[in-house]
Amino acid sequence: MAEIASSALIRFEDVGKSYDGGQSFAVRHVSFQIAKGETLVLLGSSGSGKSTLLKMINGLIAPSHGAVTVRDRSGQQLQSVQMRRSIGYVSQGIALFPFMRVWENVALPLRLAGLPIEERKRKATEALRLVELPEGVEDRLPSELSGGQQQRVGVARALVTGTDILLMDEPFGALDAITRESLQAEVARLKEKLGVTIVFVTHDLFEALALADRIVVMHEGNMEQIGTADEMLHQPATDFVRELFEKPAKLLKVGGRA
Ligand SMILES: Nc1ncnc2c1ncn2[C@@H]1O[C@H](COP(=O)(O)OP(=O)(O)O)[C@@H](O)[C@H]1O
Ligand SMILES: [Mg+2]
Repeated sequence: MAEIASSALIRFEDVGKSYDGGQSFAVRHVSFQIAKGETLVLLGSSGSGKSTLLKMINGLIAPSHGAVTVRDRSGQQLQSVQMRRSIGYVSQGIALFPFMRVWENVALPLRLAGLPIEERKRKATEALRLVELPEGVEDRLPSELSGGQQQRVGVARALVTGTDILLMDEPFGALDAITRESLQAEVARLKEKLGVTIVFVTHDLFEALALADRIVVMHEGNMEQIGTADEMLHQPATDFVRELFEKPAKLLKVGGRA
């Protein structure tokens, strides 16, 4: 059992992606592994290749070269609809259907899977409780919820199939700082409670520090470094990583020799 627990759940092996037939690369020669139960944050500025990497995990994007493996499946298998639906995904920007009630939004993956309506509503309601939304929200429309609550609905929808992998693409980007913090705490709680493996995309260094077991720093399609926040702070692999982490290093007063 220990061997299984320590083996990688998700693997990137020399992965590259070109959207223009090989003229330029959005992602270049990326290799890393994600362990079961880990929270891995993909950190980088806009256009650095974070979403491209994330969407390779649930087969929305196929690599131009190299291989992505999830639970020992790769290639065409990842692109099957069934496989994609088995991985929870919170996309960039809220994608709730405004004319569908909250529970119907959450239950959408179950409807696509052909579950009967009573079971859909029951599972959707359970998922809404998991993300701490109060009773009664299920019958409202998304517009009747706050921005933070709508994001929770998005997370509930990603969890409703009972997945053990949760992909989150800048899910809290549009929210105010206080709402963001409470949702970050929620993600940490979900991880504790459900033991899910989380791959979380952000451009926000402090969000990365708050959530990550390990961080992948992306810069212009290159993986600069993978490691814990501590490793980034004390053993930056590149000038880019050193400069990126200088600010929190100063704030945390680490590295000072006084
Ligand atoms: N569907 C696409 N077609 C063409 N270029 C794309 C597409 N998606 C992303 N790109 C380009 O690939 C690069 C990386 O994009 P992306 O992975 O979305 O970065 P990030 O999520 O870090 O902002 C950017 O230069 C972007 O313009
Ligand atoms: Mg993106």
